[in-house]
Amino acid sequence: MSFKVQPSPPARPNRCQLFGPGSRPALFEKMAASKADVINLDLEDSVSPGDKAEARKNIIEAINDVDWGAKTLAVRINGLDTEFWYRDVVDVLEQAGDRIDQIMIPKVGNAGDIYAVDALVTSIEMAKQRKKPIAFEVIIETAAGLAHVEEIAAASPRMQAMSLGAADYAASMGMQTTGIGGTQENYYMRGMGGETHWGDPWHAPTVAIVAACRTHGLLPVDGPFGDFSDDDGFTAQARRSATLGMVGKWAIHPKQVALANEVFTPSEAQITEAREILAAMEEAEKTGQGAAVYKGRLVDLASIRQAHVIVKQAEMIAE
Ligand code: COA
Ligand code: MG
Repeated sequence: MSFKVQPSPPARPNRCQLFGPGSRPALFEKMAASKADVINLDLEDSVSPGDKAEARKNIIEAINDVDWGAKTLAVRINGLDTEFWYRDVVDVLEQAGDRIDQIMIPKVGNAGDIYAVDALVTSIEMAKQRKKPIAFEVIIETAAGLAHVEEIAAASPRMQAMSLGAADYAASMGMQTTGIGGTQENYYMRGMGGETHWGDPWHAPTVAIVAACRTHGLLPVDGPFGDFSDDDGFTAQARRSATLGMVGKWAIHPKQVALANEVFTPSEAQITEAREILAAMEEAEKTGQGAAVYKGRLVDLASIRQAHVIVKQAEMIAE
């Protein structure tokens, strides 16, 4: 471990973030009744330019009026290259009550973007004497966002989470695909026997986001999977992200919430195995050994840290 101890991310569940357009207020109660840990009311790309003002009004009302339970409640504002974002921040934070937890900033390109929103939010919080500081989550979905992912993660104490936005990321990178996440037809290897193996084109940005988040104590999150008729495809993508260290995934349709919760909640078998590894290591330590054998394989001090990740996650979710 470096002299600088790795900070813990916010201790709250973030297995699924359910999105809904601010221009469809009929969905808000359904979103609140869902099993998603985080709700993202959208002002950005699911709302057409002519509907932005109405969507802001709907969202302000819903923040105040809907019972969101224990969920983390976030509003996705428009990008900093638009005419809309400042009014999103000003209207929502001046007019909505304290129930809002978080602002999601899309298409961030560098730490300066966070600084700009932070300055505006801080000023409104002072003027309105808001008691609860607003947290930030961002979407890494541009070439610049990926290139500057670490300075973005470190940009403000408000930062809590980072998502990979597959569609805009693909567009910004000039990727030859129109798929929103998941396996891409042309991203494959030819095996030695001529068989086809598909690779994961989202692997590199996923790892970069996880590393930046883990370094700075944020929650790394996998973004949207567009084909909501493909449950197996969603689950495969979510399992890959979970394996690489992400803590949750977006749902762009309510049927994806249960799929995400399933993958990002440690299973009974995983928890049992983690506890058994911890017990095996405790035994080993008693006899002064740093390594032991568990089910025919090596476990050592690093295994304790791996097992703790699973046990801690399970305990936090159980709370
Ligand atoms: N949250 C909660 N409930 C939702 C929902 C959402 N995001 N989207 C749809 N529902 C509800 C519908 O109202 C419907 O409810 P009912 O059974 O009571 O009638 C049910 O789920 C089934 O919906 P369905 O008819 O399959 O979907 P739709 O055609 O109404 O909407 C989408 C499909 C994709 C347009 C819609 O899910 C959506 O807008 N998703 C979010 C998009 C978004 O926010 N994108 C930005 C992030 S990428
Ligand atoms: Mg996007």
